[in-house]
Formats: sequence, C-alpha cells, structure tokens
Amino acid sequence: MAENTIVQKPGEARAPGPSYQEAIQRDASQAPAPFLEYSYEFVGDEDIPYTNYTSRDYAVAEFEKMWPKVWQMACREEHIPESGDYHVYDIGQLSAIVTRTSSGVIKGYVNACMHRGTSLKPNGSFGFCETFKCPFHGWEYSLDGKLIDLPESWDFPHASSESHSLNEVQVDTWGGFIFINFDLEAAPLAEYLGVLPKHFEDFGIENRYTETHLCKRLPVNWKAAQEAFMEAYHVKETHAGGREYSEPITTYDIFPDNVNRFIHTVGSANPRMPSQPTEQELLTELWGRRAPGDEEIPEVPEGYTARDVYARIVQKKLGEEYEQDFSGYSTAQTLDSIEYFVFPNFFIFPGLSLPMAYRFRPDPEDPDYSFFDLYFLRPSHPEKAPPHPPDPLILDVDDSYTQAEGLGFLGAVYDQDTSNMAAQTRGFKACARGSQTLGNYQECRIRHLHKRVNDYVQS
Ligand code: FES
Ligand SMILES: [Fe+2]
Repeated sequence: MAENTIVQKPGEARAPGPSYQEAIQRDASQAPAPFLEYSYEFVGDEDIPYTNYTSRDYAVAEFEKMWPKVWQMACREEHIPESGDYHVYDIGQLSAIVTRTSSGVIKGYVNACMHRGTSLKPNGSFGFCETFKCPFHGWEYSLDGKLIDLPESWDFPHASSESHSLNEVQVDTWGGFIFINFDLEAAPLAEYLGVLPKHFEDFGIENRYTETHLCKRLPVNWKAAQEAFMEAYHVKETHAGGREYSEPITTYDIFPDNVNRFIHTVGSANPRMPSQPTEQELLTELWGRRAPGDEEIPEVPEGYTARDVYARIVQKKLGEEYEQDFSGYSTAQTLDSIEYFVFPNFFIFPGLSLPMAYRFRPDPEDPDYSFFDLYFLRPSHPEKAPPHPPDPLILDVDDSYTQAEGLGFLGAVYDQDTSNMAAQTRGFKACARGSQTLGNYQECRIRHLHKRVNDYVQS
C-alpha cells in the first residue's frame, strides 16, 4: 500500500465537499453553537433483519417492554389551556387521559375506570369536562383523579377514594409539549431528553402554536415510517424530480441516549451537484420551490450568498405574517431542515421556515401499518394567547397529503415518501436477503433507532 494512502476506518468516510458545519461558516450570520457540534460514533455495520418490522412477536415485545417505559409526546399545552380540558393519548392497548386540574396543574391518568375497567373517554378523544364520570355505572372522579362519587356505595365497603382513585401516569412538559410515561419509576423527562433543551435554547419552541395538524395512516411499520424521515440520502432519487441544485449538505449526529438529529442545508452550493451553480441560480431555484410572493427575484449582491438573501426575505415575510421580528435568526436557523428525534417516536424541527413536529405510532392490529401525526408549529403572537389547535385532519392510507391546507409544496413531497413505504412493506417480505444494509454515516440514525428498540425488546 502506498505510504500516503489515507486509510479510513468504517464510518469515517464522508461525502466529498464541505461538511455541514463548514458549509454554514459561509453564512453572513453565525448559527448558534449546537449547529457546529459533531456527535457520531461508528457502532457496527451488520445487517438489520426485516423481522424487526414484520414479526408480530417483535411488535408484541415492543408493546410489552418498550412502550410502557418510554416518554411519549401526548399533545401540546395549548390543547388543554383551561381546567377540565382533556386529551387522550393511545399507544397500543395503553391509553392515558391528560388534563388540567382546577389548580391549573397538568396531570395524567390511565384511561380506565377503577370499577370494571371501562375507558372513561374514547380513544383519541379530546374536549372539556368538570369531572371524569364513567359511562357504565357512573363512578365519578375529580380532575385530580380522586374518586368522588361511587353510586350505591353501601355495596362497596371495600372501595374508597384511597383505594380506587385513578391510576396516574407520569406527566411533564418541555417546549410547550406534554409528555407522558406509563412507568412511574422512569427517570424524569429532563434527564431523558439529554441535549435537547440546551440545543433548543435559541428557538423559543414553547412560544409556538399548532397551525396545522393531520393524522395519516401509513402502509408501513412505525419504525420504517420514521426512517423515511431520518436520512437525506433518498432526497435525490425520491424528491428531486430532475431539479439540478437540490443536493443538500447534511450532518448526522447521535446524542446519548435518546436523541439524534440531522440538519441539511437549503440553498447552498455543493460540489456534488452536476454543475456548479452561481449564487443567482441558487436563488432562482429557491424562489421556484418556495416562492415567498409575486415579487421579482432580487439580485444577489456581490459577496453575499443566495441563502443569506433568501433568509432575510423569509424572515421579513414571516415577520409580517406573525407580527414579530425574526431578524435575529441566523440563515441556518431560518432556512435549514433541522430535525431532532426523541426516541422512540417524536421528531421536532425548530427551524423557522420548516417548523414541523412528527409523531409515529404503531397500529396495534397490524405491524405493517402505522399512524403519523404531522404538526406545523408557527410562532405565537407575542401578546396574544395562542389559538386553540385545529382538530386533526384524518387521512387514510390512500389519501393525499395535498388535501391538507398549510403544507405547501411539502404535501407532494410527503406523498412521494408514502409510496416508498408501501413498496418497502412488500419488499420486506419478498426479499431473499431478509435484512437491510445501512450506510455507515447517512443511515446512522436508523441504526440508532433499532439499537434503542432492541435495548428494550431484549431486556
Ligand atoms: S365500570 Fe366504571 S362505573 Fe362501572
Ligand atoms: Fe422524503
């Protein structure tokens, strides 16, 4: 071997050209420190068996060993702004009611009557009530979960508010989201979230409101559904549609133990593009995809990048729309696709122009299907209370995302992802190899997800 050959260990190779962290150094505005962090470690390259997706036994093990023990996003705080507002979160056979008590505290209860188990509220329901009254025999619980009325109590000398108040679940909040954990012994949410709160300090995610919410049934296992959003490797083949300058520069990072992320550039030059665009061509490309209005495309001034010019325009437009000043956001905060994942099923995008949150849940009846909640979170008005979130738009497997208002060009993009999912489900069962081979870097988040699920399934 020649002396000057660089020997790379598995996981060390990167795409030609600058890293994401190097690329954003060209921006006129400095991105917050977490954007410049790297956190990647090679943890093996062995195949992952398709039975992780297709096996009913594996799904049962997830339901028994993982879902009852992990923190999960149940709803936004603005879903239950007043005492007595409630929201039901279901995962597999488990169900929790999240509510706000008369003193304004958020609490969560197992959604089952302490008499004979009847669900107190229907799955997936939300609304307002002064007490939780069971529809079967009328046992009644206060918003604090206390049994306050037991009809014909003469027959139940062995039941009291001490012994038969509602079972609680753990509840905590971060960034305006309400999380629950069915395991009363589980470590606190703040510990579970790891770097997330620190990384989000410059985004004010708690000051956002739900502008759009849809819930779609997807034709694939919940893990594979998530994985469709965990790498940008598929963008060129699935989404680019022949557009020349759509190749992002991406960083993939894994943080202990429950968080990973990717961030990819929007509108930056990339040496991997088939021809090198001028900054003006990049701005034209951005304009075509995300036209902020009918205005003429401005000239990119000498010494500036298309990203910087476009970010200022987006800040101004969103500033007018949401009545506040976004000029303090960096170009990367404004434009880039910044996606953090919290194990096992929650994604949050804090960027200004791509402000989504995702939640995936398995279909308890069939491991080949899952449910996807997609939220668009917009900046709340600085002086007005956030509006009540819209009721979710329910979409079935074959319904197009383009039915949902507010998704813009992303509706068609999500449809492209869905057709890959159905094809994957078929291929999982047809594939003679029986397992998938992941890229060491670009698909490291998928490996991280499987590792964490396995930690629980094999415990
Ligand atoms: S099951 Fe709830 S009151 Fe009887
Ligand atoms: Fe995609």
